[in-house]
Amino acid sequence: MVGNPTFWFAPLHGITYYYMRNPLFNHAQGFDIAVAPFIPAQLKHQINPAKWKDLQHDRNHLIPVIPQLMGNEAQPMLDTIVQLKEKLGYHAVNWNLGCPMNPIVRKKRGCGLMPYPDRVDEILDHIFNSTSVQLSIKMRLGMFDLEEGYNLIQVLNRYPIQFLIIHSRLGIQQYGGMVNWSALEHLIAHTGHKIVYNGDLFDIDTFRQLQATYPNIHHWMIGRGALRNPFLVEELKLGKPIDSEIKMKRFQVYYAELESSLFQLRTEQTALPKLKELWHYFAHFFNLNEEQLLDLLRVKHIDEFKNKTYSIVWNPNI
Ligand SMILES: Cc1cc2nc3c(=O)[nH]c(=O)nc-3n(C[C@H](O)[C@H](O)[C@H](O)COP(=O)(O)O)c2cc1C
Repeated sequence: MVGNPTFWFAPLHGITYYYMRNPLFNHAQGFDIAVAPFIPAQLKHQINPAKWKDLQHDRNHLIPVIPQLMGNEAQPMLDTIVQLKEKLGYHAVNWNLGCPMNPIVRKKRGCGLMPYPDRVDEILDHIFNSTSVQLSIKMRLGMFDLEEGYNLIQVLNRYPIQFLIIHSRLGIQQYGGMVNWSALEHLIAHTGHKIVYNGDLFDIDTFRQLQATYPNIHHWMIGRGALRNPFLVEELKLGKPIDSEIKMKRFQVYYAELESSLFQLRTEQTALPKLKELWHYFAHFFNLNEEQLLDLLRVKHIDEFKNKTYSIVWNPNI
């Protein structure tokens, strides 16, 4: 294996909160750090740290977590960074410039801010002149075209950004289409910032190719790959797959804890949509076909859902 890779768990809004992260980190090794799903940047008087449930330290004792901000104005960004530091002791914060969802993009937030490097410049200038923070940025190759990524990089190069996490797609691709490795290569050739690679890292072969393509990258962010196969990062670190029977047994313990973690949050019935969302990913682990997945997603009552999922989890055809 090349170097000593560091693995970051990606933020997935609606999914990768502490009640999901902790069962994962309890039962699968390998992740070194996690970025939490975004919270909005707000002015000081609007902030209530008690609402940052996902970021409380007693819920995040397994691996370090970095809060992520969604914002497009200097003062709310600064205020939230300062409050995260003063109230919860976070010195590292991530800024989301990569979210491609239309309601966010329309408001020039997330990836929607990428075409406006001057605005990003103004915000960074305000932050770095007012406080000390280990700021990382999560971005894409651009929103509509690659030019936007290059222009933004010129601005980012002027600031002490700790890491640039780059999801190797354009915003208009959302989460589909191919990741563009050559465009990424061109982009990182124009910056001295440390890069965290992100996008479609689902298996050992792809990881080997990525390491060969980018020998200077030592940080890797994985989201969906680790939901589909919780032991992926362990396998990447080992350099070989874990025996499927062993993985199945370990998944059972993981699933039991994850389910009970969700059931503690709300009634079992109201946890159903969250479980269904997760099963989009677990379907890959169990090689379910589309019809089998739809069959699960159609279920309306939690007891029936439990029956169906337990027979998959505890009686899999390996
Ligand atoms: C449902 C969903 C929610 C996401 N929420 C966030 C988020 O809150 N912040 C963020 O920076 N990226 C978010 N992302 C993007 C992921 O962090 C990651 O960049 C993307 O899934 C590509 O990486 P992967 O192929 O390893 O999953 C989200 C992606 C999905 C599918």
